[in-house]
Order: sequence, then C-alpha cells, then structure tokens
Amino acid sequence: MSVGAQIQRLRKQYPESTSAVLPALRLAQEEHGGWLPPEALREVAEALDLTPAHCLSIASFYDQFRLEPMGRTVIEVCTNVSCALSGAQQVVEAFERELGIDAGSTSEDGAFTLGSVECLGGCGWATVVAVDNRHRLRVQAADVPGIVEELRA
Ligand code: FES
Repeated sequence: MSVGAQIQRLRKQYPESTSAVLPALRLAQEEHGGWLPPEALREVAEALDLTPAHCLSIASFYDQFRLEPMGRTVIEVCTNVSCALSGAQQVVEAFERELGIDAGSTSEDGAFTLGSVECLGGCGWATVVAVDNRHRLRVQAADVPGIVEELRA
C-alpha cells in the first residue's frame, strides 16, 4: 500500500485532517528510511489536503522528525536539566571529538549522526544517551571513547 493510501486510512481515525498530521508524518518518516524528504512532505500534504509548507512547519518544530538523512547509528545526548547538571555538555563535546563532527550533523561516511535532545525520561540516571533509541545511563565524558570504539567495531 502506498504512503498516501496509508495516510488516507489513518486520516479516517481523526475528526479533522490537521489532527492526523503528526501520525502521518511519523508514518511517512518510517516509510522513507527514517527521514522526511520533500517528496514525503508532499505525500502527507496531498493526503491530508494541506500544504507541504504546513507539513514542513510541523515537522521542523518537533525533534522526532528528521529533515535530512540520518547516519546508520544515531547518537542522541539528553541535555535537559538533570543531565545538564550531570555533565551532559561535556558528554556532547566528547562525542564531537571522538566522531569528528558537530552535534546536529552526520559524519561524511554516513556512519553516525550526533544530536542533543530534550529529556529522554531517565532523569535519575543522568546523563542519558540514546544510541539508536536504546538508552545508556549515567554516561560520563570519560565513557565516550569506549562507547564510540564499541560502536565502530
Ligand atoms: S533530563 Fe536527561 S533524561 Fe531527563
């Protein structure tokens, strides 16, 4: 079934098409390999009778949506309050050094995407780092070289 047809089916579960935007974008992102190329935004817009610009404005607001292709491994460091107080910024900087990229970008070989995110729901185990959505707890900057070595292996 095409993405458009799946979104049309999804749309029927909501009273208004605008209410279906978030699940439709999630679905389109899954179908497009984890990100939303312009084609995906057009599909969502067309299926929900919205404009691609409206869909882009929603997608660009939420961290959960990606507007660029992601690396094969996605590393997300929580930098919200509890993690910030436990050294999250140093963890981000350690990943930047080890991977040779800035937070918010993907390595040239497409192996890694590094990002900082809002609370991952593990505030008592700060700093929390999600690697492909699997959480690592109480990560310190000194742990980062070992984590990267493990991920490269
Ligand atoms: S503040 Fe980092 S998990 Fe909540």
